Amino acid sequence: MGVRAAVVGARQRDAMTAPLFVTADDSLLDELLRLAAAAGTTPEVASDVSAALRAWTRAPLVLVGEDLAPALARAAPSRRDAVFVVLSAPVPDRVFQVALALGAESVAELPRSEGWLVERLTDVVDSAPARGLTIGVVGGSGGSGATTFACALGQLAARSGPAVVIDADAFGPGADRVLGLDLVEGVRWEALGHTTGRLSARALRESLPRRDGVAALSWYADAKPRRLQPFAAREALSAARRGHDTVVVDLPRAPDPLVDEIASRCDQILVTVVPTVAGVAAAMRTAGRFAGPGSLGLVVRGSGMDDDSVARVVGAPVVVRMAEQRGLAESLDLGLGPIRSRRGHLGRAAATVLAVFGDRLPRVA
Ligand SMILES: Nc1ncnc2c1ncn2[C@@H]1O[C@H](COP(=O)(O)OP(=O)(O)OP(=O)(O)O)[C@@H](O)[C@H]1O
Ligand SMILES: [Mg+2]
Repeated sequence: MGVRAAVVGARQRDAMTAPLFVTADDSLLDELLRLAAAAGTTPEVASDVSAALRAWTRAPLVLVGEDLAPALARAAPSRRDAVFVVLSAPVPDRVFQVALALGAESVAELPRSEGWLVERLTDVVDSAPARGLTIGVVGGSGGSGATTFACALGQLAARSGPAVVIDADAFGPGADRVLGLDLVEGVRWEALGHTTGRLSARALRESLPRRDGVAALSWYADAKPRRLQPFAAREALSAARRGHDTVVVDLPRAPDPLVDEIASRCDQILVTVVPTVAGVAAAMRTAGRFAGPGSLGLVVRGSGMDDDSVARVVGAPVVVRMAEQRGLAESLDLGLGPIRSRRGHLGRAAATVLAVFGDRLPRVA
């Protein structure tokens, strides 16, 4: 399937943020669709003037092919920003007159202006409201089950849309390993460490190791743990949110300004708590670090102190309590991820969290 078929056939998820391409010239359209794919966006395509007029005001960016520009200018659409006339041949003088008549900002000649056009298209995607529900999970005490629960959330969320677990803990077991993706090829943090430009949502989504809808972004297992690079971390989180319905971040417990920043970009923070005196005391300290109005919730694992007491001491509501998951180690050893059945304790707890937070957030269609 060529780029064009792939892009045209893709689900139009972000109708409000789709740029408008106006052209009946197939080869120009192919070129533009290729650039859109590089920018991680799916355009709305109008192949005649009336279709163009219908979509004219709602698109955040309009690229008008030189073939339809004169006819569109004659139809005198309302003046608006971010209109460009594009063509693949050297620009003849008459095109500038048409561009002026259309109120276009400028004329883009392909392939010379390709890089610039991809940037403009990526800007459109970036200005889109992030649509992925982003949940950060941090252990209230060491070994309380944060990494396991983060991966369980990603695995379950993937049953209803693309999901990714972002591993921000270089000293953990690796989200890819926990999800059984460690042998799957794909991009790891090491490859993103030198990122200096915009990461497209689509490029990230398509390059991560993934199975059954859930992907992981972590480090190579045999590499020395390295610190997260701030720019790469910000870009990856932003691109992950734009490209996935659910993003789960496995946050390390050790204090780190970059981790605090990543946490502040999450819609919700979950703290995993073992309901013993020691577990709750440690969770209280951890929760204090991430406190923000309404954004903190507790996942209690095992029995001990009751929910009310845990919530009172830690200072955050209990979202869910779950019993120990039997057969977890075996499931992980087999590379099946933490959730084998939706009816298991982990599966039910993850489903509760997704139901509570998924409904609470304003989602973009
Ligand atoms: N829901 C659960 N039921 C049973 N065992 C669990 C559960 N969650 C985690 N475990 C087990 O507890 C151990 C620690 O789990 P995990 O690595 O997820 O904790 P963590 O909070 O991320 O630890 P760390 O502090 O090292 O980051 C693992 O052996 C894991 O298999
Ligand atoms: Mg962990």
